[in-house]
Amino acid sequence: MMAIVSGPGTPPTQSKAEVLSCNPVTAGTYLLRVNAPAVAAAARPGQFTMVKCGGDAFLRRPLSIHRVSETGAEISFLFAAIGKGTDWLSASKPGDTLDIIGPLGNGFDLHVSSREILLVAGGLGLAPLVFLAERARRNGIRVNLAYGTASDQRYDKKLLPEGIRLVEFTDDGTCGRKGFVTECVPGFIGSVDQVFVCGPLPMYFALSKQQNLKGKDIQISLETRMACGLGVCYACSIKTVDGQKQVCHDGPVFRLDEIVWNEMAGI
Ligand code: FES
Repeated sequence: MMAIVSGPGTPPTQSKAEVLSCNPVTAGTYLLRVNAPAVAAAARPGQFTMVKCGGDAFLRRPLSIHRVSETGAEISFLFAAIGKGTDWLSASKPGDTLDIIGPLGNGFDLHVSSREILLVAGGLGLAPLVFLAERARRNGIRVNLAYGTASDQRYDKKLLPEGIRLVEFTDDGTCGRKGFVTECVPGFIGSVDQVFVCGPLPMYFALSKQQNLKGKDIQISLETRMACGLGVCYACSIKTVDGQKQVCHDGPVFRLDEIVWNEMAGI
């Protein structure tokens, strides 16, 4: 099937990226903008970069690409400061230089024939879906975004792309509907052409158990432990119906029905 965005695209490059800004978005989460024209030009929604972090963090950190600027020179990342590497990254200042490798992995397949899609985001799973939403809107596709998060972790609506239909869920119902964001998927499934999901594993477990979603075009973006990010170390190996695959190299985007979910509990 013809795709607007698809697969791995251009081979990754290692770049020096100048920090443009790094600001808190919610408690413990940050929006980092960098100037990285080569990575930005090649990036496809769902792909990620490996970012070298200073301090005493040893490994690079995988960060999904949140946005690419209209000028095509800037990329941004939405990330949580949850350890030495990302804590260090959250203190980045304009003018600092970061060492990044990307774009990496296989991104989302957005079909040229799609007229309406559903994006399902859980928490920071919103990060790669905003990039996909922008590309879809640019191609005249109607975008529904179901976004579920803790009430004190909500992303500012004003930062979302224009023209999307937002359905919000919060854990305590203080904003939007109370409940789990996955609950809305069956209601959309008959009216959208494709579904794209990004969030924590329990979201995927819940979707994989819904019989009425079997055989549907549902793509998910997996987050697992990574070391090299380049398909070399096998730290991100998972079991699929087609055998072992590497999340960093074969994913992070997979079909929902491609994963052997009962083998994923320890990931
Ligand atoms: Fe090394 Fe995926 S992180 S193979």
